[in-house]
Amino acid sequence: MPDLLQQLDALSRGARDAVARVADEKALEDLRVRFLGKKGELSAVLRGMGQLSAEERPRVGEVANRVKEEVEALLDGARRRLEGAKLEAELAGPPIDVTLPPRRLLPRGHRHPITRATDEIAGIFARLGYEVASGPEIELDWYNFEALNIPPDHPARDMQDTFYADESTLRHGVEPGTVLLRTHTSPVQIRSMKRIGKPPVRIICPGRVYRSDYDQTHSPMFHQVEGLCVDEAITFADLKGTLAAFARAYFGAGTRTRFRPSYFPFVEPGAEVDVSCSICGGSGKKDGRRCGTCKETGWLEVLGAGMVHPKVLENGGIDSKRYTGFAFGMGVERMAMLRHGIDDLRLYFENDLRFLEQF
Ligand code: DAH
Repeated sequence: MPDLLQQLDALSRGARDAVARVADEKALEDLRVRFLGKKGELSAVLRGMGQLSAEERPRVGEVANRVKEEVEALLDGARRRLEGAKLEAELAGPPIDVTLPPRRLLPRGHRHPITRATDEIAGIFARLGYEVASGPEIELDWYNFEALNIPPDHPARDMQDTFYADESTLRHGVEPGTVLLRTHTSPVQIRSMKRIGKPPVRIICPGRVYRSDYDQTHSPMFHQVEGLCVDEAITFADLKGTLAAFARAYFGAGTRTRFRPSYFPFVEPGAEVDVSCSICGGSGKKDGRRCGTCKETGWLEVLGAGMVHPKVLENGGIDSKRYTGFAFGMGVERMAMLRHGIDDLRLYFENDLRFLEQF
């Protein structure tokens, strides 16, 4: 028995000695295996216990347990010491230079086709003297519909087209039906007139709009650009000249424009504006075949426009006896589709690089 106790004593001293000198994690792990592993020194001692008498066994067992705990504590302490030293060394070492260029240069990306089209459209109007305005995407019913002279029974107000805030907003003091996701950028007309106050008002507003729709030519979120020009003696001729200049700048110098009478509650008179097809040049035929983009008509419907309704001017705080104005709105996805001959609007939002890299 004294033999085993001596062995345990030697093991304990050996462990203290070795662990005190250990310098890295690999060596520490080797020590753990050497002392506590299945084929380690402690296991060897315990195997010898089979020879002991019934009285001796508990005493030696107790010492063996103590030694085991002692060695575990030593290893633990050493591990913490090594971790601390490693952290110290990192902190004391040279700082990481995050401004260094990467070793392998990644190919440079580019702006999304919708962003590019938006910037291009806004840029054309900026050169015509328009200021870029913006408004909230979460809008009040009043700005989105009421102030734009859209009557309560207008189909656009249908729950099926418009995303309204539901009953849960009552907790925030919002009446259901008064808050919605804007369905067009036209509410920015009202907000801009109120903000600017005194004409001239000349704004362009690009932004996201929302409608409950999803198919080849509709997505629940899409982009529009709104335009508004209010001043003394603004006429329909100004509207025609402005949009014709825009169409030539965006679709190409030879582009022709035509206006068809149409109805929008916030303008009077109102028009839908077509441009000669940018894919077939207005002939309706492409490479001897039917042009799919304009469906052989030679014309593309690109935007809605008109002379601002006097009620809308008044809702914007502008004297409708003294001032007149025109407004227009267009869909950005559609503008880019027509120019590039893209036939499915959903492609814009699928993030397929084979599509995006073409622009
Ligand atoms: N807000 C209309 C829509 O989303 C587009 C529009 C038509 C805007 C005529 C206008 C306008 O400013 O005068 O369908």
